[in-house]
Amino acid sequence: MASPRSILLSSLLLASSATAQDFGSSGRSEEAFSYIQPENTTILTQYGSSPAVYPSPNITSDGTWASALVKAKDFLSLLTLEEKAYMVTGAPGPCVGNIYPIPRLNFSGLCLQDGPLSIRVADYASVFEAGVTAASSWDRKLLYERAYAMGEEFKGKGAQVALAPVAGPLGRSAYGGRNWEGFAADPYLTGVAMEESIKGFQDAGVQATAKHYIANEQETMRNPEYNDNATLTDVLYEAVSANLDDRTMHELYLWPFANAVRANVASVMCSYQRLNGSYACQNSKALNGLLKEELGFQGYVMSDWGGTHSGVAAIEAGLDMDMPGGIGMYGLYPEAGSFFGGNVTTAVNNGTLDVSRLDDMILRIMTPYYALNQDVDFPSVDESGADLNTFSPRSTWLRDWNFTGEYGRDVRGDHGSIIRRHAAEATILLKNVNNALPLKAPKIIAVFGNDAGDDTQGFLNQVDFEYGTLSAGGGSGTGRLTYLSTPLNAINNRASQDGALVQYWLNNTLIESSEMPALWNPKTPEVCLVFLKTWAEEGADREHLSTDWNGDDVVESVASYCNNTVVITHSSGINTLPWADHENVTAIVAAHYPGQESGNSIVEVLYGDVNPSGRLPYTIAFNGTDYNAPPTTGINSTGVEDWQTWFDEKLEIDYRYFDANNISVRYEFGFGLSYTTFAISDIQAEALVDDITATPEAQATVPGGNPALWESIYNVTVSLNNTGDVCGATVPQLYVTFPDSAPAGTPPYQLRGFEKVTLEAGECQTVSFELMRRDISYWDIISQEWVIPQGDFTISVGHSSRDFEQVTTITPIAA
Ligand code: NOJ
Repeated sequence: MASPRSILLSSLLLASSATAQDFGSSGRSEEAFSYIQPENTTILTQYGSSPAVYPSPNITSDGTWASALVKAKDFLSLLTLEEKAYMVTGAPGPCVGNIYPIPRLNFSGLCLQDGPLSIRVADYASVFEAGVTAASSWDRKLLYERAYAMGEEFKGKGAQVALAPVAGPLGRSAYGGRNWEGFAADPYLTGVAMEESIKGFQDAGVQATAKHYIANEQETMRNPEYNDNATLTDVLYEAVSANLDDRTMHELYLWPFANAVRANVASVMCSYQRLNGSYACQNSKALNGLLKEELGFQGYVMSDWGGTHSGVAAIEAGLDMDMPGGIGMYGLYPEAGSFFGGNVTTAVNNGTLDVSRLDDMILRIMTPYYALNQDVDFPSVDESGADLNTFSPRSTWLRDWNFTGEYGRDVRGDHGSIIRRHAAEATILLKNVNNALPLKAPKIIAVFGNDAGDDTQGFLNQVDFEYGTLSAGGGSGTGRLTYLSTPLNAINNRASQDGALVQYWLNNTLIESSEMPALWNPKTPEVCLVFLKTWAEEGADREHLSTDWNGDDVVESVASYCNNTVVITHSSGINTLPWADHENVTAIVAAHYPGQESGNSIVEVLYGDVNPSGRLPYTIAFNGTDYNAPPTTGINSTGVEDWQTWFDEKLEIDYRYFDANNISVRYEFGFGLSYTTFAISDIQAEALVDDITATPEAQATVPGGNPALWESIYNVTVSLNNTGDVCGATVPQLYVTFPDSAPAGTPPYQLRGFEKVTLEAGECQTVSFELMRRDISYWDIISQEWVIPQGDFTISVGHSSRDFEQVTTITPIAA
């Protein structure tokens, strides 16, 4: 039986033939990632293998980071080989991930902390709205502001590196357990959200980490299974392999990471699962080829926790930092050694690893550090975090940490008010009949559902709990609440201003039972507010798309006797809402995971202080079975490599699938109502450059890839008018339909522009959408280039992916 150490040694022995680890199960290197035959004619349908791309490209510095690179080189020149090895290897310490300090060089080390909605392992920190919530705002400024505020908190706590934001999962499957940590089931919206978030974090002085790279679309079997999980010996099954073709890779999953690299993201975290047969953290095509070469990424690739499965093989494939450094998921076995650490020193000494590769890893790590001035007056790690850290409790530390600064710093500032505003602005109104909302100072209010009240099992958000409102999901993407505004508290506070009577029933089992009507007293409520919730967490995919705790039965029960039933969901994402057409269900509101100000935010929307302007970042179908691309949840065979998930749907995820197959849906991608109405008119499209070519001019790669891809080549304008009686914000959306000459499988409509606009009643404004070259190109697997197809494109602008008001055509390349 192979021990972890022998696995490690054999991986190091592979050093001279490091690529052998990289070819996936087939072991073939000759098949291009693009799955084409040499004649460049027939596209193979077979995937599951990945070509070798070596050597790992060096940092080049595009100018933005040029002076920082000089400092990083100076720093590098002072390091011993052993110090170099530990610069690329995580170690037990106060944070979720730690790089050892080097006091003789005044380097305080690196503190890496989760996560996407809060600095998680910390006291006195804010819990922000989740990624899916922020994305529902479709508001660039909000996304930036959120990340900037989070960045201030990470910095205040002494964390140089935030393990956020998330573009993988993208949301291939409605059932994905971590979709809520990321943004939207659409690469364009997610790409914008990534860019704004990264700028926000990094402007606040904290390194952002774009994760999880790449095709990390399911939780089930994301890691290998061992016969003996305690010692990680004897692999029973390798982790699931996400198998996808080159076009799908570029047009869906890589797309938002390109935005991330363009925003100069400091770090990219490679994901747990395998990719086309080889582990994502040692897939040279993904790391060396796509990320560092094609996208020109200048920062460092860090592994997800325990996502490293080899030493030199992974290093040669492009991995720059092993986290948390020990072997096994969560690095739980530091005593078993590390794939990196001392083995890196050995590999350099015995000639299997060229020190120049190690040097590049360090330059990639230290350049963003200097670029963000983290060498100057960066706060020290707050020791209170060390006391909360269960990843590497003090008993596991191999060195002492020098803490300075206040213990238990309060870094929340005025962020509560930002979170409150954000969650309100991101709330999606899905149904509103009979003027049910906004509420008009009702005098008798009934509140129902176990999501309405106080959390009764503490504030750690780590397990699903029956009683209490859901403000965040579980796992490394959660946050530790310092307080929580619940819907019931906020409704009570607000209703007391109107002298209203509020009654509430929080026990779902009771509500759905036949005893319930007997509880009415003394009169029928003017409005029944039903709060439902849906839990999701890291490590598990969702089992269904209903709300939890019999939420559907709760609604049916309340709606059977209350003719003004307003349903509010606090969910990770998609719920199928089977009662949506019930005549007594007068309004439906999707608030997702709103963070610590949940109750205050929802009350502002319900009472009309905030006019809802959220839009769905995914599609709500009629049935769970209407969705394609489920996670692979089981296999019928026992081969070690047999966990595979085939992205056969290619580009058809979420609305792209429903549109391509003419499937009716309940609420389409981009949908959301307002307390006012908007009209769009007068579409105009104008080319911004003369003589548009089908392929981009070959320019030197900068972060984000060929700059020509990001050049605006069309400007589309519309007039937007608030035709209702109250001020409100809306999100005009632009979708592109490619000409017939585009390759088969091109989705009928693809989001390529949106803008959040606030207008007073009666106000009118011109809204512009700039189309970049990438926006109207497809990825041509034969030429390995983005290509604008010949013929007419249809440009549709409307209120959602299925509600267009204005349509025009552009013809960049005549047929
Ligand atoms: C595993 C998760 O996948 C990742 O998102 C997180 O940052 C690390 N654990 C550290 O907690």
